[in-house]
Amino acid sequence: MAEAPYKDASLPIEARVSDLLSRMTIQEKIGQMAQIDRSVASPEVIRDLGIGSVLNGGESAPAPGATPTMWADMIDGFQEVAMSTRLGIPIFYGTDAVHGHNNIVGATIFPHNIGLGAARDEDLMVRIGRATALEILATGVPFPFSPCIAVSRDPRWGRCYESYSEDTETVRSMAKIILGLQGFPPTDHTSGYPFVAEGGRYVMGCAKHYTGDGGTEEGVDEHNTVASYEDLYRIHMLPYIDAMAMGVSSVMVSFSSWNGVKMHAHRFLLTEILKQEMSFQGMLITDWEGVDRITDPPGLNYTDCLKAVINAGMDMIMIPFKYERFFTAMNYLISSDQILISRIDDAVTRILRVKFISGLFERPMADRSLFDMFGHKKHKELAREAVRKSLVLLKNGKGDEKMLPLNKNAPKILVAGSHAHNIGYQCGGWTITWQGSSGNTTEGTTILEGIKKAVSKQTQVVFEESPDEKFLRENSDFSYAIVVVGELPYAEFLGDSKELRLAVDGEETIKTVCSKVKCLVIIVSGRPVVIEPYVDMMEALVAAWLPGSEAGNGIAEVIFGDFDFHGKLSRTWFRRVDQLPMNFGDPHYDPLYPFGFGLQMNISSL
Ligand code: BGC
Ligand code: BGC
Repeated sequence: MAEAPYKDASLPIEARVSDLLSRMTIQEKIGQMAQIDRSVASPEVIRDLGIGSVLNGGESAPAPGATPTMWADMIDGFQEVAMSTRLGIPIFYGTDAVHGHNNIVGATIFPHNIGLGAARDEDLMVRIGRATALEILATGVPFPFSPCIAVSRDPRWGRCYESYSEDTETVRSMAKIILGLQGFPPTDHTSGYPFVAEGGRYVMGCAKHYTGDGGTEEGVDEHNTVASYEDLYRIHMLPYIDAMAMGVSSVMVSFSSWNGVKMHAHRFLLTEILKQEMSFQGMLITDWEGVDRITDPPGLNYTDCLKAVINAGMDMIMIPFKYERFFTAMNYLISSDQILISRIDDAVTRILRVKFISGLFERPMADRSLFDMFGHKKHKELAREAVRKSLVLLKNGKGDEKMLPLNKNAPKILVAGSHAHNIGYQCGGWTITWQGSSGNTTEGTTILEGIKKAVSKQTQVVFEESPDEKFLRENSDFSYAIVVVGELPYAEFLGDSKELRLAVDGEETIKTVCSKVKCLVIIVSGRPVVIEPYVDMMEALVAAWLPGSEAGNGIAEVIFGDFDFHGKLSRTWFRRVDQLPMNFGDPHYDPLYPFGFGLQMNISSL
């Protein structure tokens, strides 16, 4: 018997989609729309419900410290079950690869987006996207929940570091990472139609979180963005136009509201604007428990919420745990004509389209020949380049006397501060775990280690995390000090802050050390923090953002002058929190350091 047309890779995508759709039962269609967490994805559930996609949340791993092989085995296991169902429709597996394959120990951890925004290098973005695609494909993941193209207008937002910039144009240009993830579409590619390059070396991008996620009042996560349509479009929506021109495969919808209406249920912005006016042909996916979260408290009237979300135009539902409730509600809503089959067919068409385009039917399993791409030396060098380019020099010396580049041959230097020797801190949230954590959570080089490697053999490097007055009296012969302080890791709403202060004893350490020793302060943070009261005490100041696993070498080779500084602030550095929100172009703009600011040492090596 001839093979079903949908299995024939030589047929046009749309012919395969409609052939497969025509063979599906209602139950199979509902199943395709469901994305569940790996922890509940048993073979029975995947098979019996015909689940369309599996993900891991930030806290969900097959085992603590699981190896790439364990991840690939797990995902291939899900895939085998999916392929053995009646129609053999593969799942796609999704993960938050937001700065490299960040859930897996040993992956290359790139700087978080705020730092990449400071680097402002489109070619670098494409290369990071390509490296990330290879590292995730090696473990069987074709679907990263990235990039985040939020335009964060207020650093009090706990996701400020996931945003490239407060400036829409900068975000638009950094969104080029999509070309690295998905590949470059041909010039005659139709905007809005998803594109993934052939050959099994590219993945489906996911632009998130549509839209206005970075514009909420006072930067409160998941809350309300108050704006006219013109402003919403001009500030927050333009990067989606670019994403669609590049053929982005999917768009994740924001938890937040626009003028009081939840984005998840916003038919106008989802269906009329994105799908109809902008001709988006890819897939719309909810955020984590996004259906539940349209009520407060979450989860009230699940059936009504689901109806609102699906009728607004959502295609795939990130459930992630309570899938029974989803299937029951869907069956009820469809049989009572509250959701029309035409809407279900639209959703499933889009999901299947993306599955065919990304080559999943032809290559459902992890490509283990890519294993050595995971944490590859070349990717780590790329991350190091990204660190180097993302650093912003905010102050260098007092008057004509420059402190940087630092002298590699100084006899004795002090390295101090909570963030000098801590991989977890320099990587921030979304690293191994959802919130990130302290210490040797993954492989990498700390800033202290980078400094030790960079200085001459004769230089004595003394590390004292929190030196007190007594220590400094007894050790008075330092040539200079490098103080590395910052914020503790956080993610999402847990990172919202009204204070924006340095964590632990950061301010104390600056005061104690910088009043006695000539010092360079390096800030490791997901956003600008309160620093104005201490700037006069410092000789030099560098913003390093959340530089990731290769921070040590990347920072050392700039502060010691092998490379010059390159980064420019992708956000306004405020003086006081009572000025917020304050963005470039605002009236009464009075920043400590303006958007776009960044000094150079003017050495000839770059
Ligand atoms: C976040 C998304 C993320 C998803 C899956 C949500 O809470 O808002 O950015 O992709 O979880 O982990
Ligand atoms: C998950 C994250 C998710 C978050 C949302 C966590 O438990 O691990 O992936 O983004 O919940 O609140």
